Parts: sequence; structure tokens; C-alpha cells
Amino acid sequence: MKGIEIGIIGGTRGMGRWFAGFFKKEGYTVLVSGRKTGLDIPTMGKKCQVVIVSVPISITREVIEQVGPHMKKESLLMDLTSLKGEPVKSMLKSSISEVIGLHPLFGMAVDSMAGHNIVLCPVRAGKWLDWLRDILVKNGANIIETTLERHDELMALVQGLNHLNSITMGMILRESGVDLTELKRFATPMFNTKLAIIEEIFTNNPRLYAEIITLNPNMHKILDLYEKTLSRLKSLINKRNRETLTELIKERSIWES
Ligand SMILES: NC(=O)c1ccc[n+]([C@@H]2O[C@H](COP(=O)([O-])OP(=O)(O)OC[C@H]3O[C@@H](n4cnc5c(N)ncnc54)[C@H](OP(=O)(O)O)[C@@H]3O)[C@@H](O)[C@H]2O)c1
Repeated sequence: MKGIEIGIIGGTRGMGRWFAGFFKKEGYTVLVSGRKTGLDIPTMGKKCQVVIVSVPISITREVIEQVGPHMKKESLLMDLTSLKGEPVKSMLKSSISEVIGLHPLFGMAVDSMAGHNIVLCPVRAGKWLDWLRDILVKNGANIIETTLERHDELMALVQGLNHLNSITMGMILRESGVDLTELKRFATPMFNTKLAIIEEIFTNNPRLYAEIITLNPNMHKILDLYEKTLSRLKSLINKRNRETLTELIKERSIWES
């Protein structure tokens, strides 16, 4: 398989660029494209044996629909999208090629995938699945194979709830009108860790976080729980009910499962 060409649509920046570097290091020829750079989308589909789509979530389906019809049966169409349902179903629908959904559970700041989790959804996979697994395993990634539905359900917690929480805290800090420089002088180690995460979200690719939260079909359930929980906490705090709050925090069933 070493002689193959890998085309990454959205390979000029972000996660696509990270994977372009990765496959180049593995000895493959990698062609990258963006809106103004590289081959046009249909040509990528015709020319490359493996095509990877890595564009903003909200335009992923549109891009897949442009490349899918040009993929050959013996080729592989993949995506790196943080959500798997809609993109992977679009890949299945618009192409006759093999289809694998991939979600790297790490950001571009990492030097290597060693020790990091990667989700695979091999929905129409043949020879290419072993090829892909071998490369990822060789580089030390933890591979998790699952369905599109389970991936998106769990990502509503791992990413949706997680980022929603950070954004809520960041917005409250902003609304409070506090001077950040002064606030940092009073920081505890735990607060510093949280602040670093919030700053990352507010300054680096806000669109990605907004799309991860708004486009996951499972987020309405999380939001209902969030609202219910906050209102319960508000009631306890307003009543200064420290006993019940302590009991709620002490409830350990999830940590012991
Ligand atoms: N960032 C992460 O940490 C991370 C982690 C895991 C998964 N992902 C997934 O990776 C995908 C890309 O996210 P990202 O954060 O890497 O985004 P990004 O940094 O904004 O990069 C987006 C890429 O898409 C290209 N692009 C934008 N519109 C396009 C269009 N209409 N046609 C062709 N190319 C287009 C851009 O190229 P030009 O600017 O050159 O036009 C750029 O190369 C998303 O699906 C995201 O969920 C991201």
C-alpha cells in the first residue's frame, strides 16, 4: 500500500494538516486541499486511493457529497469529524467506496498519537480497515471501534457537556465584569487549570466548539439535565441547605461502577 496517494480535503490547516504530517512521516504521498489551495474536490476523489475529509463540521456533508460520487469502489473514504452520525451516513450514501469514520480524541497540540484514543466506525470496510488499524496501532494509539450512534451519544458528554460547562463558566466570568489580571493573582491551582481550558476555548477555534455542541443530536437531553441540575442546586444554595448538598456530592455510585 506504500505507493498510494492520500488526499486530505481540509489538509491545509487544523486536524487535517496534523494527519497530513502523520501520513507523510509514514512514507505516503499526501495531497492537501483547502478552499484556495490544492486539487479541486472531484479530482481528489478520482485521483486518490484514500480521501480524508477534515473541514468544519457544518460544511462536512456538502464536501462529502461533492467528493463521494468520484470515489472508486476499491478506494477508501474517511472523515475526521468530531461527530459521526451525519458525516458517515453521507459518505455511505454518496460513494460506493469503502467507508470508515475516524475521530481522533486529541487536538493538534500533541506531538504523537501514542497513548491517545481514536474512535473508528468501520461501516463499509474491507481491506483498508487492517491497513488503517496497523498504522494507528504501530503509532501507539488506543483504538475504539463503535457505532455512529454510540459515538455521538458519548461525545455529547465527553465534548458537549464538557465544553458547555467551560463556556458557561467563561461567560459568567465575562459577565461578572471582573478584571482577569486581578483574578489571576488570587488563583488556586485548580482555578488556574480551569482558566487555561476556558482561555483555550475562547481564543482557539470557537467555531469548532460551537459546532460540537449545537450539531450533536443528543445535546437536548444533556441540556435538560443541565437545567434540572442547576435549578436543584440553586434551590439548595438559596436555602443554605449544606446537609443535602453534602449528601448529593457524596453520592458515589458513578465512581464505583
Ligand atoms: N481541531 C481539533 O482539535 C479537532 C480534533 C478532532 C477532530 N476535529 C475535526 O476535524 C475537522 C476540521 O476541524 P479543524 O479544527 O481542523 O478545522 P480548521 O482548523 O478550521 O481547518 C479547516 C480546514 O478545512 C478547510 N476548508 C474550510 N472550508 C472548506 C471548503 N468549503 N472546502 C474545502 N476545504 C475547506 C480549510 O482550508 P482553507 O482555510 O485553506 O480553505 C482548513 O484546511 C472537523 O470535522 C473537526 O470536528 C478537529
